[in-house]
Amino acid sequence: MKILEVREAVKYYGNGGNITKALDGLSFSVDKGSFTAIMGASGSGKSTLMNMISAVDTLSSGDVFIDGVSIADMTDEQSADFRRDKLGFVFQDYNLLDTMTVEENIILPLNLRKEKVAKIQEELKRVTDIFGIGHLSAKFPDEISGGERQRVACARALITSPSIILADEPTGALDSANSLRLMKTFSELNKSFSATILMVTHNPEIGAYADRVLFLKDGVIWNEIYKGDRTKKEFYNDIISLIAASGGDNDVF
Ligand SMILES: Nc1ncnc2c1ncn2[C@@H]1O[C@H](COP(=O)(O)OP(=O)(O)OP(=O)(O)O)[C@@H](O)[C@H]1O
Ligand SMILES: [Mg+2]
Repeated sequence: MKILEVREAVKYYGNGGNITKALDGLSFSVDKGSFTAIMGASGSGKSTLMNMISAVDTLSSGDVFIDGVSIADMTDEQSADFRRDKLGFVFQDYNLLDTMTVEENIILPLNLRKEKVAKIQEELKRVTDIFGIGHLSAKFPDEISGGERQRVACARALITSPSIILADEPTGALDSANSLRLMKTFSELNKSFSATILMVTHNPEIGAYADRVLFLKDGVIWNEIYKGDRTKKEFYNDIISLIAASGGDNDVF
């Protein structure tokens, strides 16, 4: 079942003589329960695409559908509700609030929804168990490690049971051990909890955890590959080969 559909997405930034076409008529869809990575050189439009899907900015033309609902048709209020109820965000800089404890950060989306205390406690336990971070509840973000902060951010993203998890360079600020740990968590969420994940990454090793990789170039998808029956190592090698074939530099991707 399709959970996300991007249709003929075009995005221009700027005006007058200073216009950038960041998305150039891009279309794809994402099935429920899939794990998709988006790769591409710096400036290829990855973050722009994520911002359009998350409705924080609007397309110049085209549309995005989530659970069959068109983002273009929403009012600002509908769009805010939609982001809160349907989407879970995990970003490179965590976006945790420094003046709140770990627990307060995690339950924030449910407090904003004015959920009952018992329900909030139940969901809190569920997500802190998944990430093994229950013992950090009373700490503040600046009292825990970068890897722990990222797990807290993931717990917050999942506490509303979103339709889709959107992650833009989620491992960007992590060392390789914590990056792999986060990818194992994503895989587990995807396989055991059927979470739908759409993740931007520069790193082919991280991309190989997905079951499909979309390659962006100049605002369009120029290629895509599915993992299929391949091992992670084989998939990684195929991702690298494709990047090399495109004339891309691995460090840039
Ligand atoms: N707010 C903005 N105003 C003007 N131009 C923008 C804006 N945001 C992005 N761009 C331009 O749009 C293009 C796509 O940018 P985008 O941030 O989507 O790239 P990206 O693939 O996420 O790159 P990176 O890997 O460096 O994060 C670039 O040419 C960028 O300079
Ligand atoms: Mg970006």
